Amino acid sequence: MSKCARRGPNFRWERGGTDVPADLSGSGAPGIVATSDMEWERPRGLGTGSVVGWCVVDDAKTIGLIGAGALADALVGGLLAAGFPRQCLWVTNRGNTARLDRFASAGLRTTRDKAELAARVAMLVLLVKPKDAVSTLAELRAWLRPGHCVLSCMAGISTAFIEEALGGAPRVLRAMPNIGSAVRSSATALATGRFADEGDATVATELLQAVGEVVRVPESMLDAVTALAGSGPAYVYLLMEAMAEAAATLGLPEAVARRLIPQTVFGAARLARESEQTPAELRAAVSSPGGTTVAGVRVLEDAGFRQALVAAVGAAAARSRELGRQWQS
Ligand SMILES: NC(=O)c1ccc[n+]([C@@H]2O[C@H](COP(=O)([O-])OP(=O)(O)OC[C@H]3O[C@@H](n4cnc5c(N)ncnc54)[C@H](OP(=O)(O)O)[C@@H]3O)[C@@H](O)[C@H]2O)c1
Repeated sequence: MSKCARRGPNFRWERGGTDVPADLSGSGAPGIVATSDMEWERPRGLGTGSVVGWCVVDDAKTIGLIGAGALADALVGGLLAAGFPRQCLWVTNRGNTARLDRFASAGLRTTRDKAELAARVAMLVLLVKPKDAVSTLAELRAWLRPGHCVLSCMAGISTAFIEEALGGAPRVLRAMPNIGSAVRSSATALATGRFADEGDATVATELLQAVGEVVRVPESMLDAVTALAGSGPAYVYLLMEAMAEAAATLGLPEAVARRLIPQTVFGAARLARESEQTPAELRAAVSSPGGTTVAGVRVLEDAGFRQALVAAVGAAAARSRELGRQWQS
């Protein structure tokens, strides 16, 4: 079995047998191997099952990824874990040969020739930075056929802009997944453009549900979604970094903190997702008067933790709008 190391610290794609991020073994979902505490990992949205055998039964569902960066990495990790046939995933990028080779050695099809890629796939997934939108769309315009569906994950770039750049009446959708895609736990929002129909939305939803939860939203909400869910994992990681600093200050060994902190976040998130109670109610339930949690939370509130987060999400949304203005002009 050949293996392909992934960029992230904990994931690798495996070739042959099951296709799984290394630490997701055995959950019972197709191709997932799991430890018992990861059993829940299968997103609820996966109920419809899966994209297993998608393109084998339906040539209309081969996928071409334009861009081979961090998000492509996460999506591919999640799709392979969901059992998506790797030979039905095509990938291209601009110049980074080592990255493309990594996808190739994991069994995906790779090419630098966008004409070839466009000829082979039904759905084109745009995974380039907003600054590269114009040049990428200009290249694609020549190869786009009416049968293609275009799913853009670019922050801030509207479907109207993409439609205009591609010419004609292209079937364009926009999604904002997040890095949780790598472990099939993305919080993804999906919006449709003018020419995409419900069939396109269904195919895109099925694809994205394989890597997490999908919520349909009007496109006008995508800047806010980008700020909240696209950037959200980074806010949580910052929280975890600060918790690690606190652990060190209190003399906890790093190895102990490394196990406790992610599990604490994981458990709190799982409870918030599965409980009928609001986060405020859950917090109240663990805050005994005069107790330790109250003492800690009071310091956070006094330091403006809540306002800082609200401002952070606002700033990220403003940046998303700004990127849109900057790269769509
Ligand atoms: N990262 C996230 O968590 C996340 C979440 C939601 C949405 N997004 C959105 O997803 C997009 C990609 O983000 P990322 O973090 O994956 O970026 P990234 O790591 O910088 O990757 C960008 C990729 O685009 C490729 N590229 C650039 N121009 C190209 C062209 N003309 N043709 C083909 N490939 C081209 C680059 O290839 P080379 O390396 O060869 O230049 C690279 O593989 C962005 O628009 C971002 O807003 C990201």
